Amino acid sequence: MSQLTTGLGIDIGGSGIKGAPVDLSTGEFLKERKKVLTPEHSTPAAVARIVGEIAAHFPEAAGAPVGVTFPGVVQQGVVRTAANLDKAWIGTDARELFTRATGQPVRVLNDADAAAVAETRYGAAAGVTGVVLLTTLGTGIGSALVVNGRLVPNTEFGHLEIDGHDAETRASSAVKDAEGLSYHEWATQRLQRYYRVVEDLLWPDLIVVGGGVSRKADRFLPLLDIRTPVVAAELRNTAGIVGAALAAAATETV
Ligand code: BGC
Repeated sequence: MSQLTTGLGIDIGGSGIKGAPVDLSTGEFLKERKKVLTPEHSTPAAVARIVGEIAAHFPEAAGAPVGVTFPGVVQQGVVRTAANLDKAWIGTDARELFTRATGQPVRVLNDADAAAVAETRYGAAAGVTGVVLLTTLGTGIGSALVVNGRLVPNTEFGHLEIDGHDAETRASSAVKDAEGLSYHEWATQRLQRYYRVVEDLLWPDLIVVGGGVSRKADRFLPLLDIRTPVVAAELRNTAGIVGAALAAAATETV
């Protein structure tokens, strides 16, 4: 399988579960993505049913490597944390569950890690040497650390305790919306504090900001007064799917 050209990526999020076949040589979707709303009770069984449904929607990708993202820590396919999904996930062997649901071997990885894999190959972190920190701002804050192009998996810098709070409960984009903060208030009062703590701990060479809100990056990134260069992710809402497909293909070729 050294000539893999297609991978199937499925991205599990707090609001939607999305998948598409990906051309691994370009990072483009080969067909329009399919999205199913995340069930209110996002139990392993309910989510696995949807993952199976999405895989079945793309018969042209049958036999291609399948990668699935999860919004929590994933070690050797086993979910270890689930801050924003049903707690029944903790301890679940997601690799086995999704392999049964799709009938194909599946690679499962953290959602921010998948986004970083895609940005490193095709996007804002391509060709960057040194330490890149990718953060995704959404329901929570995801983080991924890439050192000279290699991912250090399962960093959880969204949960740093800052000023007595779990950071994502102050600075995620969901919190911005819930508290009705303007971009200015959010950037100068919440994000700035967050990124200053993070840059003092990690000294990254570049920070890449992803998540849905990165579409509006020009409204808040220029307001940040931090020392580290900071740029918006380039793949936007395709990064999770593309990164999952790439990661799955990488497992097959090693
Ligand atoms: C989780 C991370 C995840 C992030 C974004 C956090 O609450 O702990 O694992 O990457 O949300 O979904």
